[in-house]
Amino acid sequence: MTVKLIDGKKLAEKVRNRLKKEVLTLKKTPKLTVILVGDNPASQIYVKNKAKYAQEIGIKSEVIRLCSDITQEKLLKIIKKLNKDKKVNGILVQLPLPRHINEFDVINAINPEKDVDGFTIYNKGLLSVGKPSLVPCTPLGIMEMLKEYKVKLSGSLAVVIGRSNIVGKPMAQLLTLNDATVIQCHSKTKNLKDITSKADIVISAVGKRKLVTEKHIKQGAVVIDVAMIRDEKNKKWIGDVDFEKVSKKTSLITPVPGGVGPMTIAMLLQNTITAYRKQNKK
Ligand code: GUN
Repeated sequence: MTVKLIDGKKLAEKVRNRLKKEVLTLKKTPKLTVILVGDNPASQIYVKNKAKYAQEIGIKSEVIRLCSDITQEKLLKIIKKLNKDKKVNGILVQLPLPRHINEFDVINAINPEKDVDGFTIYNKGLLSVGKPSLVPCTPLGIMEMLKEYKVKLSGSLAVVIGRSNIVGKPMAQLLTLNDATVIQCHSKTKNLKDITSKADIVISAVGKRKLVTEKHIKQGAVVIDVAMIRDEKNKKWIGDVDFEKVSKKTSLITPVPGGVGPMTIAMLLQNTITAYRKQNKK
């Protein structure tokens, strides 16, 4: 059987082209402001890419770079100012934050209407009661992929491995909203493979190499790998899934890199336009 890849890079490009056209129809130019605290190398790359793709589709972007020793008070002041700034439609605080800063308090200082990450308790609450508004970008991107590749969700058994606030939890909620039967697994789950091997769809977001092997997967299943682990020895990125062996059994599978990653940024741009629309319809 030939491996049927879910090409996240190509789909993200298609989404960006659609968004580029949409931006041209808006009265004003949407603006995204990204706050980066400290010099975490991975965060620097993510932030650079977020700003680059925003500009490419005609969204204004600004990166506020702050020293890692900034006080929480000063950071909150900056967010409050951005909340009031009518020209700023989207605010994103890149995570992780330095340890002396309370991530929860900082995220929840963002005006929910500008919360393009969908991380505030307000937006998370809306999703949990089935009224999604601004939804976290990675799970949103995965839903877009499943739709594009016509993966049947209604009545399907989907297993999500991981329970983070950024991916696992919202992922399970979105799948449930789309009528899948969802089982959420995590680091304390016993006999993981007994559960995943029954699933029609397996979404893994843990960050543990070879967590998902061919024994975990049913013939013909759809497998989505969210993890990005740096393999320093071979100088490449890998995921949770043993791609070579698992892909022999799947009907659809995402590669790492080039799968979920590019979709996350595309959804951030989509959320920025959604935020702009929310702020400009009043
Ligand atoms: N760090 C890793 N992923 C993310 C994300 O999706 N949003 C933000 N703000 N920080 C992150």
